[in-house]
Amino acid sequence: MGTFFARHYDALMGWLEKRGFTRIRANLLREASGTVLEIGSGTGLNFPLYHGCDKVVALEPSEVMRRTSMKRALIAPVPVEPVGGDAQNLPFADASFDTVVGTLVLCTIPDPLRALREIRRVCKPGGTVLFFEHVRLEHAALGRLQDWLTPAWKRLCDGCCLNRSTLDTLQQAGLEIKRTERYYGDIFVTVVARNPEAGSGDASASRTGAFES
Ligand SMILES: C[S@@+](CC[C@H](N)C(=O)[O-])C[C@H]1O[C@@H](n2cnc3c(N)ncnc32)[C@H](O)[C@@H]1O
Repeated sequence: MGTFFARHYDALMGWLEKRGFTRIRANLLREASGTVLEIGSGTGLNFPLYHGCDKVVALEPSEVMRRTSMKRALIAPVPVEPVGGDAQNLPFADASFDTVVGTLVLCTIPDPLRALREIRRVCKPGGTVLFFEHVRLEHAALGRLQDWLTPAWKRLCDGCCLNRSTLDTLQQAGLEIKRTERYYGDIFVTVVARNPEAGSGDASASRTGAFES
């Protein structure tokens, strides 16, 4: 991963955060409780917004972003522990977390389905899974425009794909989607989902920790 995007992420996001992203994040994170895992926590933009939970483990592979996030962790309203790692191969035991959070991250993880299977493994059965993501539009022409823009966008923004059908991937992983809300002409979506009991949904999600790559 290059460091330009990581070093300038907060500046690049500033306008969007002020125009509504921070409010969307805050509304979603009200659903977080207990011990929380945040995947791809970046520079820690969510850290000030956690209130009703015991602790947040914040997993972020970019050292540059993680270092920035540590400053936010120190002043967060709840204890936040930034750790390195890859969401596709989570370094946690089965059923360790009450809530798993991801914001603007399934667009970038190389294999989002694999990461979701890992999330199901480390989240307790019946636990909560929260996402804020941008998705491929159903409008045919706009969806094709996203497809066309993605290769260049991906290079500019450290692997971010504009055209992922993330709601389909969440369902493929076997998560039970309880509620979605769309924003900005349907391009952004928040998802409140439940991790069903082991054995339901995606056949390949097991609680043994053994996953296909
Ligand atoms: C667009 S940034 C979003 C950062 C943060 N979640 C936010 O809402 O501001 C995408 C994030 O995904 C992270 N990421 C990329 N690949 C990942 C992986 N395999 N596992 C976990 N995080 C990953 C990046 O390092 C980056 O922090």
